[in-house]
Amino acid sequence: MSSLLNELDVLSAEALAEAETLADTEALEAFRLKYLGRKDGRLTKVLSALPTLSGDEKREVGKRANALKGAIESSLARRRQALDDARITSELLKSKIDLSLPGTPVMRGGLHPLTRVMEEITDVFVRLGFSVAEGPEVETDDNNFTSLNHPPDHPARDAHDTFYLKDHVDDKGRPLLLRTHTSPVQIRYMRSHTPPVYIVAPGRVFRHENVDATHSYVFHQVEGLAVDTDISVADLKGVLTLFAERLFGGQGTVVKTRFRPSFFPFVEPGLEMDISCTICGQKGCRVCKGTGWVEMLGSGLVHPNVLRAAGCDPEKYSGWAFGIGVERVAMFKYGVDDMRLFYENDLRFLGNFS
Ligand code: PHE
Repeated sequence: MSSLLNELDVLSAEALAEAETLADTEALEAFRLKYLGRKDGRLTKVLSALPTLSGDEKREVGKRANALKGAIESSLARRRQALDDARITSELLKSKIDLSLPGTPVMRGGLHPLTRVMEEITDVFVRLGFSVAEGPEVETDDNNFTSLNHPPDHPARDAHDTFYLKDHVDDKGRPLLLRTHTSPVQIRYMRSHTPPVYIVAPGRVFRHENVDATHSYVFHQVEGLAVDTDISVADLKGVLTLFAERLFGGQGTVVKTRFRPSFFPFVEPGLEMDISCTICGQKGCRVCKGTGWVEMLGSGLVHPNVLRAAGCDPEKYSGWAFGIGVERVAMFKYGVDDMRLFYENDLRFLGNFS
């Protein structure tokens, strides 16, 4: 018994002294193997001799050997920590970080002004209980024109400067096109839903136009459609006036609206809505061209032919619809006089909106 205990004393003194001299990770590992290695570790050997000992002896040697094992392990851990600390300190000293240098600026993104305005328009209607609907940008000739009361050869089709797809037709062999307005969403929605229908449909539209300060071949619209029993022009005027007040008014800015007769084949009567110029308070300015009024959107009561084409009985239901140009609104709201600025994505321009 005493020989094993003596051996443990020697082991303990040697191991704990040696631990303090370990200078790198290889030395740490060699040390661990030397004392705690599974097969030949010096302490492992003592521990594996335990079963050959008897009662008291086994307890005493076992206790001391395990305590030594713990002590070796913790000095290994301490040493490893000390070596890590020393390495980090020396790396830090070498790398000479200047904490007074300015950081790398992180660019903050923001929503594009057109996205913002489109969401603002949509939000006004969502708060009034309208749902948001969407339709595809590639449309059938039928949804974009025929069902919207533009029969083939109708002269109003020309006004749209349509992009037709070259080698693609729909499943009935009819031409496909890039939608020239968001109005085909009216048709799609009415075909798949029974009234009451209250929707807004934001989206991209395409027309074969030359680009200038007020035109682009891709632009954005928000369509609105309300179909129910007993819908009248009064509903249209009431909701669209409230919309204009919410979008452009507030904080002391008063917004008036006026409706002028207009023509779109899919509505009867057709009404163009103007709003009072909030830039000059109707004193007359460059934006309203001295008139005090700014054209805002096209609207009207849904034509019975359109209701019929979309599967709604015009004897039972009536509706009103509008279409508003997002770029126009954004230009007016932010006082931007060239639409191209919205597409160039110059960060100096976009930065004004975030
Ligand atoms: N679709 C028409 C356009 O793009 C706008 C509109 C929509 C007019 C709904 C009346 C009703 O010009």
